[in-house]
Amino acid sequence: MSKAAPVHVPMDQFDIDGQQLLIGGQSLEQIAALLDKEVFYAYDSKVIKKQIDVFHQHIPAAIKLHYAIKANPYPALINKMRPWVEGFDVASHKEMLLALQSGMPSQDISFAGPAKQLAEIRAAIVAGVTLHIESETELARAVEIGQSLGIQPIVAFRVNPAFELKASGMKMGGGPKQFGIDEERLFELLPDLDYRQFQFRGFHIFWGSQNLKQEAIIEAHINTFALAQKLLDVTPVPTQTINLGGGFGIPYFAGEQRLDLAPIGDNLKQLLNQYPQLGEVELVIELGRFLVAEAGIYASRITDIKTSRGQTFVMTNGGLHHHLSNSGNFGQVIRKNYPVAIGNKMTSPATEDKIMAVGPLCTPLDTLADKMLLPQAEIGDWLVVFQSGAYGPTASPQDFLGHPHVAEIIL
Ligand SMILES: Cc1ncc(COP(=O)(O)O)c(C=O)c1O
Repeated sequence: MSKAAPVHVPMDQFDIDGQQLLIGGQSLEQIAALLDKEVFYAYDSKVIKKQIDVFHQHIPAAIKLHYAIKANPYPALINKMRPWVEGFDVASHKEMLLALQSGMPSQDISFAGPAKQLAEIRAAIVAGVTLHIESETELARAVEIGQSLGIQPIVAFRVNPAFELKASGMKMGGGPKQFGIDEERLFELLPDLDYRQFQFRGFHIFWGSQNLKQEAIIEAHINTFALAQKLLDVTPVPTQTINLGGGFGIPYFAGEQRLDLAPIGDNLKQLLNQYPQLGEVELVIELGRFLVAEAGIYASRITDIKTSRGQTFVMTNGGLHHHLSNSGNFGQVIRKNYPVAIGNKMTSPATEDKIMAVGPLCTPLDTLADKMLLPQAEIGDWLVVFQSGAYGPTASPQDFLGHPHVAEIIL
């Protein structure tokens, strides 16, 4: 018996009206008219809120949820999310300003990222944002700048743990890393630091991203709690906050399933019982794509259709310059298809023809869909790429070949 080909999880997070995909109740044609743009990202705020509710349904209330703005720094989306999460994590001066201007209190904003520039450190100190310190030099700089300003920097140490997140496309901890300070070095430093030079906030233990394996995340949490307890034990001053990392993934490709947060939450409850001292510290999980990726689509207009030696090519006004990650060039080893659809033919059956959907760039890398089954496409239809709410426009080379930038909207 031959095995069925893997399929994408159903994109059932959005409503459909007849043939029309709806984002926040609007068809793609309506969104295009609203924006006066023929190629855009649209984010459905209800879907973001639902993901946040799923988090709270399973993860113990003692653990706070922060949004990592890097996943999608569209200002209107940040402003919408502000009352729904308990903090923002930022990775640059610009993200920090967006977070502050959303009204998020500075004590709930943390700034992580290697190679912070002096101006970034200075701005974070002035703002009262927590600096996640990534090196010993960075600590010395924060102290010096703080002294020159007459403001104590608020400091948490980003730890490069000795353990790794298993089964993850993107590891940010374990082994030699540019992120954080190695845990063994921190154990040497922590007992003897001059804690009068800064406001000590706590630790940031971040190990990776885009993980869909419950067991791997559970193992990372077990290791994180053990490490956090050891850090507390050697730190001579009280610890206020421990950021437990993030890493929750979303299904992009055929054969992948949505992450089940129930066993992850059960394990966290058990860890909170096992480590009562940690239960007294503010605990945070920081997530980017898990909160926003499923809520976003990328829509481009089909402007031409042609056949080359038997292969159908559907050509659109969108492409890699707007959506690098869908093209497979943002961390994938082998390109795989995101789920796609014709957004104005949602209930039409697929034809037998495996189509290539491509953009306007002069490179075969500019592929939106590679040999996928879709309903009969016509010029004027909307090609939709799902799972596009994270690492979209700001993670794409929008100026490549000088085509127009993409529009965004949250509904
Ligand atoms: C420190 C830190 N926090 C959060 C994230 C967000 O990851 P994700 O969007 O996969 O949740 C990243 C990803 O690079 C990161 O490096």
